[in-house]
Amino acid sequence: MRTLRSGRKVDRLLADFGHPLPAAAPPAVEPREPRLFQPTSPRGQRRRGRGWSPATAPVATWRMTSDQAGALWPFVTRPGLPATGAQMGFDFFSRGSFFADPHGWVLEERVSNPNIFCFGEPGLGKSATTKAFCLRMMGFGYRTLILGDVKAEYEAMCHALGVEPITIGPGLPARINPLDFGPLRQGWDQLDAIEAQRRADIVFSRWLVVLRGLVGSQKIGHQPVPVGPTEEAVVDASLRLLTGYTAGNTQLTETTIPRLWWLLHEPTNDLVETCRYASVRHFLDDTRLLRDSLGQLTHGALRGLFDDYTSINIDWSAPIQSLSLAQLEALGDEAVGMALLCLNSWGRAMREVAEPGDLRIVVRDESWKQLRLGIEAVMSFDADLRLSRRDGDIQLAIAHKPSDLLSAGDLGSQAATIAKDLLHLTSTKILHGQPQQIADELAGILGLSPIATNLVTDWCRQVPGRALWLVGPQIHKVQTVLHPAERLLTWTNANLEAAA
Ligand SMILES: Nc1ncnc2c1ncn2[C@@H]1O[C@H](COP(=O)(O)OP(=O)(O)O)[C@@H](O)[C@H]1O
Ligand SMILES: [Mg+2]
Repeated sequence: MRTLRSGRKVDRLLADFGHPLPAAAPPAVEPREPRLFQPTSPRGQRRRGRGWSPATAPVATWRMTSDQAGALWPFVTRPGLPATGAQMGFDFFSRGSFFADPHGWVLEERVSNPNIFCFGEPGLGKSATTKAFCLRMMGFGYRTLILGDVKAEYEAMCHALGVEPITIGPGLPARINPLDFGPLRQGWDQLDAIEAQRRADIVFSRWLVVLRGLVGSQKIGHQPVPVGPTEEAVVDASLRLLTGYTAGNTQLTETTIPRLWWLLHEPTNDLVETCRYASVRHFLDDTRLLRDSLGQLTHGALRGLFDDYTSINIDWSAPIQSLSLAQLEALGDEAVGMALLCLNSWGRAMREVAEPGDLRIVVRDESWKQLRLGIEAVMSFDADLRLSRRDGDIQLAIAHKPSDLLSAGDLGSQAATIAKDLLHLTSTKILHGQPQQIADELAGILGLSPIATNLVTDWCRQVPGRALWLVGPQIHKVQTVLHPAERLLTWTNANLEAAA
């Protein structure tokens, strides 16, 4: 018989002698609760109607006990913006999506106007963020108007949307008249006296602003040509005479800068009298500077571009329209700045009567070229921004640094005040990366905290597309995420690549 080396256990021994011990019942298996969330990829399911996200959220991992977690729940560090409008990317403060909806923000009284000013060092994604914003707002019925594509970098986007951009340059057929009446002239003969007066005030003041800007951007040495009340009165009286407004005509005649120059060159007795000059000689002597400055436009580098009636017909129902100024690059920054000034005046005319529901984003990329021309040019820009609340456009201006608004003219209090005013006309600012000195300048003007200033000099400069979005008083730390298709449309390094 085989002997068990280990011996019998007690229960076995008792069982062998006929006394089985009762066995303990096996533990009851509790049914598992059904899973609340099915495991999926963090990007979601790549199936129709399932909401696949091309990029994963930059989620930070924190470890803490449930005791501590209660103090941070629901893990949102600051009040977010509503999820309406263009989904731009991630808000690194709240770790959620960041949505841009300037008109929505106005309606919610977060900001007082829908305008956006974008600052940043070159190459950090100002234009790309702008393009992504315009493309994503198209889904909400917004159309885009590029008022001056200085580097021809919006052309790919236009072509992708099936629109041919309008190119303005020497020898090309497109003409833009900064003294265009725009849609305000429609039905003038049927207007009552009060409405006609109101419209005339709008048109004449716009013309005066652009002419002040153009004349004021000319220099005697380093000093801008002065534009005082006398020059203004002469220009105003001449324009009224040329259009037939002074004669009380019901049909007004459109005029151009060369016609204005010619009238100043050969003034009628009427004009001399209206402007209270003793003689034609007196008039000519006193307006020489004004005449010669205007002559620069008709005989100078920009000849043949802004000195005749508008010859283009814009299709306002197209998703995008772009006026390309890239052909002017060789003429220098000043010529481009003056062209932008003319284009802006014309663009403003075109938008003076917008159909209800005609929502448009008006982009002024590289606007620093205009702003550097002088205080008058800055004031013309300022006038454009002031209108946006009335006509429902979103004005989006792009510049390198705030001192672009100050570099012209004296750096004294007048320029600084205008620059600050201009910034206040844009409730939303997008601050891409900047070097320390410029970030300090921005901090001074915008009242940024040291933490925000550090983000501008450090975090925002690490990757293109990172920026602080100042929406009214709130600051958001945002990374714009581009779709692969948008990357192709925003790629501005092609020249660098070709050179490498
Ligand atoms: N959010 C982003 N993600 C990835 N690449 C970007 C992003 N924003 C810009 N870029 C790339 O960086 C380059 C420079 O951008 P760009 O918008 O032209 O700069 P800026 O207008 O500030 O000079 C472009 O080639 C663009 O594709
Ligand atoms: Mg750019």
